[in-house]
Amino acid sequence: MRGVVLAGGLGSRLLPLTKVTNKHLLPIYDRPMIYYPIQALANADIQEVMLVTGGSSAGDFLKLLGNGKDFGLKRLNYSYQEGEGGIADALRLAEHFVDGELVCVILGDNIIEGHIARAADAFRKQQQGAKILLKEVKNPQRFGVPILEGNRVVKIEEKPANPRSSYAVTGMYFYDASVFDVIKTLKPSGRGELEITDVNNAYIANGTLTWDILEGWWTDAGTIESLYLANQLVAQTGANKL
Ligand code: G1P
Repeated sequence: MRGVVLAGGLGSRLLPLTKVTNKHLLPIYDRPMIYYPIQALANADIQEVMLVTGGSSAGDFLKLLGNGKDFGLKRLNYSYQEGEGGIADALRLAEHFVDGELVCVILGDNIIEGHIARAADAFRKQQQGAKILLKEVKNPQRFGVPILEGNRVVKIEEKPANPRSSYAVTGMYFYDASVFDVIKTLKPSGRGELEITDVNNAYIANGTLTWDILEGWWTDAGTIESLYLANQLVAQTGANKL
């Protein structure tokens, strides 16, 4: 299975912290933010990783991460996203790297207490379709929110004003290589982006999306409040441990 870390975007919710640098280079306690998702992939025995980034600080990732040796990766590739087309648009750039294999996609600002090794193993057995990880949160309207009927996720709504469950779809996704065909069918959303939620809804529609609950704490770090929370959580308990 290949890994893709998405680390583009303007980080506008963190201004002025992101005025002269990329969000994913900001510190979370004792490490740059981007270390955490890469470590999460490495811990799940995903050793071939592509980092997709953009903007004027893109070169800094190469200086910081090099060939990924510090994480024990076999290879770390890079791709450059022009413009701000959204998460699914950034993922599109990894098509040749993924090369028909399964892929685990992780958003560069997602920090977890535990690891995703169990979910990765389950998806290696599942072999096709998609898998998402859910986490109960206090503020679901900030995230993609699943509508659950019994044990089934029947739809995901992106940042709904009236969330239909108390779960967030975390920024860790498993796909088969048909994800790149799905992305080609997407239309930009209201915020002008190709939404990962639309990708997941396509897999729900063809009946091949599975889900699990993520163990341990989870947070993104894309707002001032969540960046502060991520620092506190890592300082108190450490990340990628459990
Ligand atoms: C993105 C996704 C959302 C998901 C979240 C997880 O939101 O669109 O569905 O729940 O990541 O971090 P964004 O950070 O782009 O607002």
